[in-house]
Amino acid sequence: MEHVTLESRKFPDGEGYVRVPRESFEQIRSEPVILVSNTYPDSGIMRTILLLEAIGDVRRGDLSNYRGEEPQKLDDVGPGIYLAIPYFGYARQDKRFSPGEAVSARVIADIMGNICDGIAILDLHEPKVLADMGVPVKFVSSMPEIADLLGAESKPDFILSPDKGAISRASEVAGLMNCEFSYLEKTRIDAHTIEHTPKDLDVDGKVVAIVDDMISTGGTICRASDALRRQGATAVFAACTHGLFTGGALSRLANHVDGVFTTDSLPNPRAVVSAAPALARGLKELIE
Ligand code: R5P
Repeated sequence: MEHVTLESRKFPDGEGYVRVPRESFEQIRSEPVILVSNTYPDSGIMRTILLLEAIGDVRRGDLSNYRGEEPQKLDDVGPGIYLAIPYFGYARQDKRFSPGEAVSARVIADIMGNICDGIAILDLHEPKVLADMGVPVKFVSSMPEIADLLGAESKPDFILSPDKGAISRASEVAGLMNCEFSYLEKTRIDAHTIEHTPKDLDVDGKVVAIVDDMISTGGTICRASDALRRQGATAVFAACTHGLFTGGALSRLANHVDGVFTTDSLPNPRAVVSAAPALARGLKELIE
């Protein structure tokens, strides 16, 4: 497909502005359009909404404008706007943990689903929260690419899931690499503190890779790595799809693991795996 760059900037007060350049109108109206955009940080949510609306107007042929530039109206070319979300912000508020809370992941998805014809999301924390959306949603995963990278860079003998939530992802990597696999049980005390239930792991003398969907503070990985080293692991690597690395996480991780790898779903210094192949797999299915 052709690649079109849209205009996006901020007003001095921080509000967003977007525009589909006139020279892209024909392209955008002549074939399906995929917008690649994160719902993170909050400004990313606004930018995504405004871009989907602007693309929708161009495809509907609504070019009416204050300056009176012609044409003001064209035919509606019909549905065909797809949203690819490398990093879906607000994914972890996937339940109403206490009464009165917003189920933020669903709120964000419903807003996007109302203004596009399909969505592909990379390694969403808990896909169940998006059950029965009004538009088709494809959940795609970078675990095959992460397995390739780990095979080339760290050659682990053992893959560990640091909590039950990451079992399906980490075990997929273990299966692809023909590695041993186990998982830990994690209790989150608060945003910065977690505890793992002690467990015997057969990692003495082994190279281990911990695989998760995201790393935020790094607390989960650091604690899991400590447990692995206490049980004799000779090297510990961490790999995830989304590298948020909040509040000095990378320096903290440097004291606990021998290397960290992520996809480029978010810009960060450890982004060495392309998220594009996984998203392209889902988008092909959506469009075809
Ligand atoms: C939570 O269940 C996620 O899969 C990650 O394990 C978690 O978000 C990592 O957070 P942190 O790096 O702050 O421990």
